[in-house]
Amino acid sequence: MATIVISGVSKGIGYALVCELLKSADHTVIGISGSAAPPFCDGEHGGQYKHVHAPHGEKDVFSGLENLLDDEGLMPDALVNNAGMMLNKPWNEITQAEAERIFQVNVIRPFMLIRRLLPRMAKPGHIVNITSMGGVMGSVKFPGLSLYSASKEALSVLTEALAEELKESGVHVNGIAPGAVQTEMLQEAFPGYKAPVSAQEFARFLAHFTLTGHTLFNGKVLPVAVTTP
Ligand SMILES: NC(=O)c1ccc[n+]([C@@H]2O[C@H](COP(=O)([O-])OP(=O)(O)OC[C@H]3O[C@@H](n4cnc5c(N)ncnc54)[C@H](OP(=O)(O)O)[C@@H]3O)[C@@H](O)[C@H]2O)c1
Repeated sequence: MATIVISGVSKGIGYALVCELLKSADHTVIGISGSAAPPFCDGEHGGQYKHVHAPHGEKDVFSGLENLLDDEGLMPDALVNNAGMMLNKPWNEITQAEAERIFQVNVIRPFMLIRRLLPRMAKPGHIVNITSMGGVMGSVKFPGLSLYSASKEALSVLTEALAEELKESGVHVNGIAPGAVQTEMLQEAFPGYKAPVSAQEFARFLAHFTLTGHTLFNGKVLPVAVTTP
C-alpha cells in the first residue's frame, strides 16, 4: 500500500503519472491542482484518487491537503513536486512580475509543499522534484528560457540541499530532470518540435522511481533525456 501526493495533475506528465499509479489497487493518489480534477484515466484502474483544489495565484494553498490527510488518516509515502510553469520570452522583455511568478511557482511553492507535508509523511519516504535538463549546469541552453532554466536549476540545488538537511528524517529527496516529453509545456518552449518520449512513457519510469528510488538515491538529480532538446 502506498499513498502518493502529486502536484499539477490536470494534464501532461502529472496527469499521466496519476493514471500510471492508479493502475495498482494498492495505491492511493492525491492530486493537487489549480484546475478542475483531472479527467478519468483510460483502462482498468484499481487505485483510489483524491483531489485537492489549490488555486494557482494563492499563497496558502496547502490547508486543504492537510485537512484531507488528517480526516482520512493518510500518511503519504511519496511527494512528487511536478507542477511547474514555462516562460518563453527574450530576457529583456521579462517583467518583474513574471520573474517573481516563475520563481514562486517553480521554486517557492515546491519548497513550501515540502515544509507543510514532511511532518505528515511516512518514514521511509521519498520526495521527487521535477526539474529540467535546462536547469542542469553545463547543459545546452535555449534563447527565451532564461528564467525557466534558472528556476529549475534552483529547484535542483534545493533538492541537493534539502537531502542534506533532511538526511536524519527518514525521507530522501531526489530530482528528475526530464529532457523533451511531449506535453503542452514542450510545445510552448519549442513550438512544432516532436519529442520522442510521450507523457505516458515518461510516467511509467517516474512512477517506478517515485516508489523505489529512495532506496538507492538521496540528494541526486537524474537527467532523463534521449534528445537535446
Ligand atoms: N514536457 C517536457 O518536456 C518537460 C521537460 C523538462 C521539465 N518538465 C517539467 O515537468 C513538469 C510537468 O510539465 P508538463 O510538461 O507536464 O507540462 P504541462 O502539461 O504544461 O503541465 C504543467 C502542470 O503544472 C501546473 N501548472 C501550470 N501553471 C501553473 C502555475 N502557474 N502554478 C501552479 N501550477 C501550475 C498545471 O497543473 P494544474 O493546472 O493541475 O495545477 C499543469 O498540469 C513541470 O515541472 C515541467 O517544468 C517538462
